[in-house]
Amino acid sequence: MPRILTGLQPTGLLHIGNYFGAIEPMVSLQAEGNENFLFIVDYHAITVPQDPKKLREHMLFAAAVYLAAGIDPARTTLFQQSRVPAHTELAWILDCHAYMGEMERMTQFKDKAKGKGESVSVGLFVYPILMAADILLYDIAAVPVGVDQKQHVELARDLAERFNRLYGQTFTVPEPKIRARGARVMGLDDPLKKMSKSASSPKNYISLLDDEETIRKKIMSAVTDAGTTIAYDEARPGLANLLTIFSLVTQRDVASVEADYAGKGYADFKRGLAEAVIAFLRPIQTKIREYQKDEIELKRILDTGALRASELAEQKMKVVRERIGVTL
Ligand code: TYM
Repeated sequence: MPRILTGLQPTGLLHIGNYFGAIEPMVSLQAEGNENFLFIVDYHAITVPQDPKKLREHMLFAAAVYLAAGIDPARTTLFQQSRVPAHTELAWILDCHAYMGEMERMTQFKDKAKGKGESVSVGLFVYPILMAADILLYDIAAVPVGVDQKQHVELARDLAERFNRLYGQTFTVPEPKIRARGARVMGLDDPLKKMSKSASSPKNYISLLDDEETIRKKIMSAVTDAGTTIAYDEARPGLANLLTIFSLVTQRDVASVEADYAGKGYADFKRGLAEAVIAFLRPIQTKIREYQKDEIELKRILDTGALRASELAEQKMKVVRERIGVTL
């Protein structure tokens, strides 16, 4: 059975980009008889300063979101990265096989380090190697991610191939799995950049927890252009992004949304989109709140997941330690 894995940082804010780029694909892949792994990447989150109390809350929130989105713990191993120490152990071994040159090419690091000068953490620099370890530990065939993570999955592929060449077949070489639509939801206030939780204004994103009024305001003020027709056109990135979101939240194709708004203007279109987003998020929000009430159950699910992941990870680490010659 092909194994699928993805991870998300527990930042306390998940937006519709995270949802459509990584969470929803993971939910739909459950139905296809794969073996699924979804984990909360807490050790990635501490590459930037975190408030320990909030981090704990954010992890429980993340677990509640995944369950609310339709992740079934009976079919998906749901766990917390730091509970499986093999992730950091393998990351160290891979650190010793990764090249400074290839790490310096990581565009996300370059973006995130901008303006931080000398005080950027070493963790932020080596973070893609920890991500490679996350994937390679479990012989993962496909990694559903948004476009921004593609380069990191490619690094995981390079490291797997390098290790296999040096020590013999050890790791499965993973493929990034990037959906055609929804893998790069753009910022509402700047449709040339991806929607991002670290954006300077909350008008950039729609959080999964935004209330109705906030959603309406954000969509009505989304940046568009001076055009008058509602028609998908890459040269009109603001409108193209809103049409994509409309299509994602209603599971309709873009052409049928365009047909609904033939002869109508932006105001009607944005009003319709806001109501569609609200209708889409309402049941998810209700479920998130339900799951959040039962912290004991959330922890139980994560404990079970950590146990299963640890077993598999340890099997792989035994082979890795033998291959590199540290087993006596
Ligand atoms: P993170 O937490 O930044 O993002 C989580 C997922 O959301 C996707 N995403 C988007 N998709 C579409 N449109 C957007 N605007 C958008 N913004 C974010 C991201 O591509 C990602 O899939 N390093 C990873 C987490 C990670 C991981 C892993 C993923 C750690 N180990 C192993 C896969 C496999 C990260 O920081 O994602």
